[in-house]
Amino acid sequence: MSFAALRASARRVNVVASSARGSRVALRNSAFRKYSTEVPPSGPAPKGSNKLLIGGIAAAAVGGAAFWVYASNSSSAKEAGTALKSGAQAAKVAANYVPTKEDYQKVYNRIAEVLDSAADKEYDDGSYGPVVVRLAWHSSGTYDKETNTGGSNYATMRFEPEATHGANAGLKVARDVLEPIKQEFPWISYGDLWTLAGVTAIQELGGPKIPWRPGRIDGFAAQCTPDGRLPDASQGADHVRNIFYRMGFNDQEIVALIGAHALGRCHSDRSGFEGPWTFSPTSVTNEFYKLLLNEKWVWKKWNGPKQLEDKTTHSLMMLPTDYVLTQDKSFKKWVKAYADSEDLWFKDFSAAVSRLFELGVPTQQFVASEPWIMKNTDEN
Ligand code: HEM
Repeated sequence: MSFAALRASARRVNVVASSARGSRVALRNSAFRKYSTEVPPSGPAPKGSNKLLIGGIAAAAVGGAAFWVYASNSSSAKEAGTALKSGAQAAKVAANYVPTKEDYQKVYNRIAEVLDSAADKEYDDGSYGPVVVRLAWHSSGTYDKETNTGGSNYATMRFEPEATHGANAGLKVARDVLEPIKQEFPWISYGDLWTLAGVTAIQELGGPKIPWRPGRIDGFAAQCTPDGRLPDASQGADHVRNIFYRMGFNDQEIVALIGAHALGRCHSDRSGFEGPWTFSPTSVTNEFYKLLLNEKWVWKKWNGPKQLEDKTTHSLMMLPTDYVLTQDKSFKKWVKAYADSEDLWFKDFSAAVSRLFELGVPTQQFVASEPWIMKNTDEN
């Protein structure tokens, strides 16, 4: 195991982090050094089924170029420049470049390496996985089923004003971490890259398989969603229901999705809240539900926003919106079910996340009729 990997695993507040994962980190880091010198893969022959996708990408690229001209004198010119790059992507596709599942698997593998590179940078708990899952979710969770707007299709979080919506504070970290992968595989759309990164993080951090397929296209700034579509952590059950019902989820799916808080932590310089939910913030487990039910939670005495802390160690946290899952009968039923059975949670979480990441993407844009199961790096 490399020194960096050792240091990172020592830093992790992680009761279930196995030495197996530690050595995988070391393995991946050495694989990264080899692989990064390779040239991007070249694409196989065209498939007729992608005509719609090609048209959509070309249209989005034209819009992106127009926006770039308009915004080139503004502070958002850099973000807008990424829309122009979708022109390069359109050119690739127009030149009959149709990536296969194997090409996307290469992107998955590269993402896995980059997530682990957090250990070398002493970032958080040693993985970019949690912040990347949050990016994938925030890019999808803007969906409104009534107007069929928002969702993961156009990756509009690249642009102002969505990039600086309060709920998205800190997600530049995740976008920046993934940007070199976009440069390495320029044919992938940002929406596909971000959601595939969410899938990679969940699978590589010990979670269930998340069925996923490509087909999202890059949009432009005019498609940004209005502020206020993502949940506000200081609110109650009504707010949580309004937000998630708007996306088309029910109570069971809401509880299943929020279990993602097994991963990662709050940052006072991002959301204002502080601390991790579990002792194993780089492992996908059902610990969030177990702790929520079994620990005694008290309001934290501090100058920051209202949040709860565990009475025993004062080192874990719950957001007000997490806590309401135990205060509402219909939500609590599912908290109990998922605390009792990690298998059940994995099954429901997998289905709900898969659907979440596809919100707002017209079915005809997908390149496959059914989502794919991507291989974990240790299955390659
Ligand atoms: C009521 C719903 C939700 C609320 C109010 C909420 C709120 C928050 C807040 C305030 C943070 C801390 C951000 C920071 O300071 O860095 C956070 C982090 C996170 N959220 Fe949520 N969230 C919700 C649902 C979800 C869902 C559905 C997912 C994924 C399926 C998710 C995944 C994550 C992850 C992985 C992190 C950790 C990020 C990191 O470590 O950088 N959340 N969430």
